[in-house]
Amino acid sequence: MIGNPVEHSRSPFIHARFAAQTGEPLEYGRVLAPLDRFAETVREFADRGGRGCNVTVPFKFEAPRLAARCTARAQLAQAANVLRFDAADAGGWLADNTDGIGLVRDIERHAGWPIAGRRVLLAGAGGAAAGVLGPLLQARPRVLLLVNRTHERASALVARHAALARELGVALDAAPQPPRGARFDLLVNATSSSLHGAASPVPASVIGRDSLAVDLMYGPAARAFLDWARAHGAQARDGLGMLVEQAAEAFFVWRGVRPDTAPVLAELRAEVDAEAA
Ligand code: ATR
Repeated sequence: MIGNPVEHSRSPFIHARFAAQTGEPLEYGRVLAPLDRFAETVREFADRGGRGCNVTVPFKFEAPRLAARCTARAQLAQAANVLRFDAADAGGWLADNTDGIGLVRDIERHAGWPIAGRRVLLAGAGGAAAGVLGPLLQARPRVLLLVNRTHERASALVARHAALARELGVALDAAPQPPRGARFDLLVNATSSSLHGAASPVPASVIGRDSLAVDLMYGPAARAFLDWARAHGAQARDGLGMLVEQAAEAFFVWRGVRPDTAPVLAELRAEVDAEAA
């Protein structure tokens, strides 16, 4: 895992569990990259025998530029959280983005909540939102509305995904705020508003008893949003399942093997809950 900061990453724990479970010979650690030396740090790691890496803040946007080939989902996101150095078919390094599929799998498999045909509200238009929009569309909701404080960022993100949405038959649009009185089945908070003291970037009228409200963060950073969602009757879910599922997809990119995520998520959940208590 290469990032800055990187010391709090749970990924080494998750990948150690996946390796033990599958018998795959995988060693996974953390590397702190100086802010102005991301490319050099990755190359040094590859020269030392690294076969691939995860990339986290603030380098996800830089990562695709190091690769000879990007997967379609990394191209749409214009960001990568996975690099593979030895992808023979890529003729060089491969960049991928597993964040969005991680979110969708957590919602559909762990929360048992199918997205197809539903009305989805995605809040935020930064890097986190860009990473999940494509895979959310691929799950074929009926409607996906992207809202963001800065409307231009939302419009740009929607414009980039317009062809995919058309192809999939999803009504995709951008707005500064949801229309008055509109209710959604699924609310995904991909903003960092909770880090700035706001419980939710959207009014409570968008959710109700049948809604699922998901924050991409977990731990203390997600608490205000989850409390807000529950207080307004919705089912609430943090980003811990997404974290485990994006890791499982990265593990598959590197090793071609799919780990069983449920026991690892349960173990991580117990650990995070214990820290919060
Ligand atoms: P990240 O990589 O986590 O997505 P980012 O690219 O800085 O980080 O994006 C942060 C997102 O949170 C943006 O959508 C931002 O809105 P703007 O595009 O208008 O800046 C949103 N955000 C941050 N603080 C917010 C707040 N207090 N209320 C609503 N949205 C907020």
